[in-house]
Amino acid sequence: MSFLDIRRATKSYGTVEVLHSVDISVEEGEFLVLVGPSGCGKSTLLNMIAGLESITGGEIAIKGRTVNGVHPSKRNIAMVFQSYALYPNMTVAQNMTFGLEMHGVPKAERDHALADVAKLLQIDHLLDRKPGQLSGGQRQRVAMGRALVRKPDVFLFDEPLSNLDAKLRVDMRTEIKKLHQKLGTTIVYVTHDQIEAMTLSTRIAVMNKGHVQQLGTPREIYDRPANVFVATFMGSPAMNIIPASVVVKDGCPNARVADADGVERLLPFSQPNLAGREGREILLGIRPEAITDPEGADRKSSNIVAMSNRVGVAEPAGSDTFVTMTLSGRDVIGRIRADANVTSGEPFSFAINMEKAVAFDPKTEERIVH
Ligand SMILES: Nc1ncnc2c1ncn2[C@@H]1O[C@H](COP(=O)(O)OP(=O)(O)O)[C@@H](O)[C@H]1O
Ligand SMILES: [Mg+2]
Repeated sequence: MSFLDIRRATKSYGTVEVLHSVDISVEEGEFLVLVGPSGCGKSTLLNMIAGLESITGGEIAIKGRTVNGVHPSKRNIAMVFQSYALYPNMTVAQNMTFGLEMHGVPKAERDHALADVAKLLQIDHLLDRKPGQLSGGQRQRVAMGRALVRKPDVFLFDEPLSNLDAKLRVDMRTEIKKLHQKLGTTIVYVTHDQIEAMTLSTRIAVMNKGHVQQLGTPREIYDRPANVFVATFMGSPAMNIIPASVVVKDGCPNARVADADGVERLLPFSQPNLAGREGREILLGIRPEAITDPEGADRKSSNIVAMSNRVGVAEPAGSDTFVTMTLSGRDVIGRIRADANVTSGEPFSFAINMEKAVAFDPKTEERIVH
């Protein structure tokens, strides 16, 4: 039994099922991020945990107690919404303690909780203001403060940073992470932003079309994506997916691809099991950072493959340069050092870290594990 258990949970609106048998367990103190494209069912799932949406099938349990049908106010959870949902006519202090008052918490205790949380979030100087007199970032803090004063079992966040500008979003992200490390609270956090998911979470559930595609640590999801969807959704620029076939040479499997001039090239895999797929089509998955200039290649890798290929475009991005080339008719992106000498349309010596390559079944799009 976990702290928060979601078992075979489904949700239908009328005859349309929007969540399909979701299984997720969250341990106490975990920071679970639900990530996926818009409309995939993240908010619906979060609202089901909160009790704001009913559960069509399956079960949700918090600390071993089934909460299906339990009123939101009786679940001991707190939610922070994208819109903040602050009361405009109440002061910051009133907004933060209103929930406690409703739960009959005595004034002295409320004041104590308020002072603690206001200090923690550095909003003590704003307590007498109204929400209209606050910046976006300050409102965000107040919304979090209102959740924190209640000392709930689980915090639920629904895209809390999406209304903030880019700079503030990054700052608040760091603050939320610090807050979690300090308080050790259990958090379920919804975002469509894969970078937010990677940086904040202890584990990530990647969702698409109402299905959990993969549940794992950020490293597992990034290095061993379950399928092409996860591989291309997590990471920016996305993982390159290149049609290839398996050629076995001296007992070792290679991915056969065509370069920009249509010439066949063999890229040796580090996964010996792929030899069992001799002659079959696969999709080769390589992240941009595994395609570099020779000097930028990972020195710890035992499988760096040199390959010259014509450069499509080179896009300097300050710290690195993104370079495209064609492999098997697809645009492939590499990430090379900013001072590497690269010219659009000219051949370039790429270094491909095949130790990091993965392979997918072209029919099922699942990663080939065995
Ligand atoms: N009240 C509703 N009635 C009918 N369909 C809904 C309702 N709320 C959400 N949906 C549908 O459920 C799916 C998941 O929505 P949602 O959970 O809001 O996605 P996300 O938060 O991932 O963007 C979408 O297809 C959406 O159109
Ligand atoms: Mg949503």
